[in-house]
Amino acid sequence: VRRALDLFCGAGGATRGLQRAGFHVTGVDVFPQPSYVGDRFIEADATALPLTLEELREFDFIWASPPCQRHTQLRGLGKAKASDVDLIPVTRELLRLSGVPYVIENVVGAPLINPVTLCGSMFGLAVKRHRLFEATFPIEPPRCACRGRRNIAVYGKSPAHRLPDGVIRARDLQHGREAMGIDWMNWRELTQAIPPAYSEHIARAARPTPTKEDPRGPVE
Ligand SMILES: C[S@@+](CC[C@H](N)C(=O)[O-])C[C@H]1O[C@@H](n2cnc3c(N)ncnc32)[C@H](O)[C@@H]1O
Repeated sequence: VRRALDLFCGAGGATRGLQRAGFHVTGVDVFPQPSYVGDRFIEADATALPLTLEELREFDFIWASPPCQRHTQLRGLGKAKASDVDLIPVTRELLRLSGVPYVIENVVGAPLINPVTLCGSMFGLAVKRHRLFEATFPIEPPRCACRGRRNIAVYGKSPAHRLPDGVIRARDLQHGREAMGIDWMNWRELTQAIPPAYSEHIARAARPTPTKEDPRGPVE
């Protein structure tokens, strides 16, 4: 079985896609996640080395979704606090040290390196939910068809949260779940998640990282 680690896993939107791509998934989150769908859960600060480098290297693939409040476009609404530190650089450093193929996911505007953008319309979903992905292997984005299409918003405090003009809010929890392709989360968890279709697509493209000794990578 191939094993994946999901750092900052939340209730497991990304995890579910990794599972669909055939991985056994261990999730790490600093808060308890009673709805987590992965195979194993570790409650820990992902940036405080909860696993040794040797333990990290036992995984075939590492996914990381560091919190994004600092970079989100909602910042302009005065939501960012000084405490919203940027966990992207420290996460990247840890992943590089591990040598394991990895992906860092974040919102549009986050300082990722050569990111690929995925959109719900690429997977037939009603959410637009553009997200950026920095990876150690190439990701081919499917064709984007979101221009001029309806976009179901799954963010804010509740489905009734006030939204900018032109964005259609999810009517209720069930509507939001359908738009995301997620059937187990509550509203708060859903607003934090990515559609599993994104991580499934990426996990299927995951390849071993070429080593310095052999640029073609390990022999399969
Ligand atoms: C954007 S959410 C991840 C959502 C997840 N990728 C999904 O698709 O459902 C970020 C998560 O990071 C967690 N988190 C924040 N700081 C953390 C830290 N230092 N270590 C581990 N988890 C942390 C939060 O509790 C939150 O669940």
